[in-house]
Amino acid sequence: SDCTADEQAELLPYDCKWEVSRRDIHLGRQLGSGAFGRVVKAVVTGAAAEKHKSEDEDGLTTASPSSSLVVAVKMCKSQQDASHVRALTMELKIMAYLGKHLNLVNLIGSNTSHIGRGELWILVEYCRYGSLLSYLHRHRKVFINQIDPVDGTFDPRICDQTFSFPVFLRSDSTVQHSLTDTSNFKTVQSCDTAGTYLENDGGSPSREVFHPASNPRSSDPCLGIDSHGQQVVYDKSGIPGESSPFTTSSLVCWAWQAAQGMDYLASRRVVHRDLAARNLLLADNNVVKIGDFGMSRDIYKTEAYVKQSDDLVPIKWMSVEAIRDRFFTVQSDVWAFGVTLWELFSLGSVPYPGMQIGPDFLKDLEAGLRMEKPKYGNDDLYDLMLQCWQEDPTRRPSFSALSEALEALLEPEV
Ligand code: ADE
Repeated sequence: SDCTADEQAELLPYDCKWEVSRRDIHLGRQLGSGAFGRVVKAVVTGAAAEKHKSEDEDGLTTASPSSSLVVAVKMCKSQQDASHVRALTMELKIMAYLGKHLNLVNLIGSNTSHIGRGELWILVEYCRYGSLLSYLHRHRKVFINQIDPVDGTFDPRICDQTFSFPVFLRSDSTVQHSLTDTSNFKTVQSCDTAGTYLENDGGSPSREVFHPASNPRSSDPCLGIDSHGQQVVYDKSGIPGESSPFTTSSLVCWAWQAAQGMDYLASRRVVHRDLAARNLLLADNNVVKIGDFGMSRDIYKTEAYVKQSDDLVPIKWMSVEAIRDRFFTVQSDVWAFGVTLWELFSLGSVPYPGMQIGPDFLKDLEAGLRMEKPKYGNDDLYDLMLQCWQEDPTRRPSFSALSEALEALLEPEV
């Protein structure tokens, strides 16, 4: 086919089964806004809510008597700008074409009734904890590093072995009151307060510690120690939660889920073009979902890649060939995945810190400039990033290979 991807997306059908009446959409507060679009929280009632809940595979959603569903509604800011309504229409068509995957922000429905007036609403799954980038910024104080700062070994079991994190001390009486399920307490030799390793002195058990991962549903407040050794009160335990700790394992698990979602996109021949931590959303049950297909263009039916004219582009996430020729492919998504990994394992730092990105950025990348190992990553993780940043796109790993490599990190040999 000689069609450009945009034209192909245009040709995709719109199925009326997605249509949700405005009567059933109750708009709430704004969740986010960009240059052209905004996202608003909403409650959907009626048949659409019913349908989505019955399709839910996780089995954890409980259908309420009068069914309602919290969603995020994407819409254009201005009804005047036809090109953005067009872009949103393409996004809708791509989402409908894609089909559901756990690690994508899935389509729930849409309202096209006012499209003639330049209004289109896209209803997608609501992700309670917002973007991973904002989550990292909000929670970096309760991060538990499971990577040995000396030799770089990563042990995801670190928190329920001799090492103490994450732990909640029971020395405080208020904590003893709030933590009722004693089956989740483990006895350790000693607890450190510095945030990393324990000395096992072989003496008598000194304290009981609580392992939050073994009691993810408790919503009681409890006392803990953050990664800087400060005592803090966690108002909710379990991961994720607004004040619950997260670990190196959480980061690897999120990265693995993102790779799973991207592998699915790649299998459907969809190039995302804006993969970044800001576009990964965290939903209930620790599920990471890839969102914002605003810049995605469908390339199904053809392996040919599409050149795009100048636009606002996320240059720090772009591969050499994407900057040079505006060539966006699955492999340039893999490059962006490497940058996203770097963001995760630096707890949300801006890529290429301190660097002014000027016209020489491409030359620097071509000359071999790459980011350094992020603060909370080890050599295994950094090696994955460097593989994603190979200049030759064909030498970069596939998303399925990345997903396997990340999975292996979570399952260390016994
Ligand atoms: N912000 C942007 N998209 C969102 C979504 N689907 N859920 C929650 N917050 C969002």
